[in-house]
Amino acid sequence: MIDPSQLMLTDKVAFVTGGGGGIGKGIALGFARFGADVVLVDKDATAGRETAEEIQDLGRQALFVETDVMDKARLRAAVADAERRFGRLDVLVNNAGGVRRMRFEEMDDRSLQRHLDLNLVSMFTATAAAIPLMRRGKSGGSIINITSAEGLRAGPNLAVYSACKAAMINFTQSMALELGPDGIRVNAIAPDQCATPGSLTPIGRLPGWLPHGHPARLRYVPLGRSGTVDDCAGAAVFLASDLGAYITGVTLPVDGGTIAAGGWKRNSSDDWTLYLTE
Ligand SMILES: NC(=O)c1ccc[n+]([C@@H]2O[C@H](COP(=O)([O-])OP(=O)(O)OC[C@H]3O[C@@H](n4cnc5c(N)ncnc54)[C@H](O)[C@@H]3O)[C@@H](O)[C@H]2O)c1
Repeated sequence: MIDPSQLMLTDKVAFVTGGGGGIGKGIALGFARFGADVVLVDKDATAGRETAEEIQDLGRQALFVETDVMDKARLRAAVADAERRFGRLDVLVNNAGGVRRMRFEEMDDRSLQRHLDLNLVSMFTATAAAIPLMRRGKSGGSIINITSAEGLRAGPNLAVYSACKAAMINFTQSMALELGPDGIRVNAIAPDQCATPGSLTPIGRLPGWLPHGHPARLRYVPLGRSGTVDDCAGAAVFLASDLGAYITGVTLPVDGGTIAAGGWKRNSSDDWTLYLTE
């Protein structure tokens, strides 16, 4: 019989990349509220330290390691720091990521490499460093990759980001199979429309961009509101907890229903339509 205590992460140790702000911060604080100690890495030292203090204020231990996840050696060293401090690792959240919007043919090699390093290679590096540590604990583990709704649909003007996010979903499935026998579960969360500092202003080209909460922007969100970092944190706590014990290899959209909506939008009469005529 299930029990509410199974949602708790008491004394688990979690490692969150990009944990200083946005969704990563929401998840780091959510984990702490449910009893976990948290190691967070972020390239923004001020934001990282502030999050660590907030976690300590919640009565849990926090370790912040200033790290650019594109620096493989630093990222590996941060996982080693986590091992030295806590001696174990139960949860890894590969969250740090980002996009500069531009047409694919305008993207130079440097920008292409940055997209790959930030969104994909950092996940490979952190996962490879975390696996031996999780295995050694012999109590399984939970890896959560923060992909995107763009990994599940097209991404015009963000094609490489979109391809990276789709690759994260496939990697999630492959790892679920490779690590299943060790009791390490691997899942992904695909956010959309989540109001975060990074999503408040568009970086690069996005014709017709509207701010979060704009009525026209909400016309394709079935739940009719923007998401919050706590919406993502709730999904992450569930996937990290024992209530998610039989779930691996899945991608959970946290999107207010936008993936389900596909091309459907609400018109000014509040009817769902595929065609915008106004
Ligand atoms: N906000 C959304 O609606 C949304 C939608 C789809 C996917 N996502 C994904 O969620 C993740 C988090 O996005 P967000 O909206 O919270 O972003 P954000 O910009 O608000 O926060 C990102 C955090 O990661 C840190 N960071 C960025 N680059 C880093 C690097 N190279 N090394 C270390 N830290 C780094 C930043 O300093 C910041 O603290 C990303 O992977 C993003 O692609 C977000």
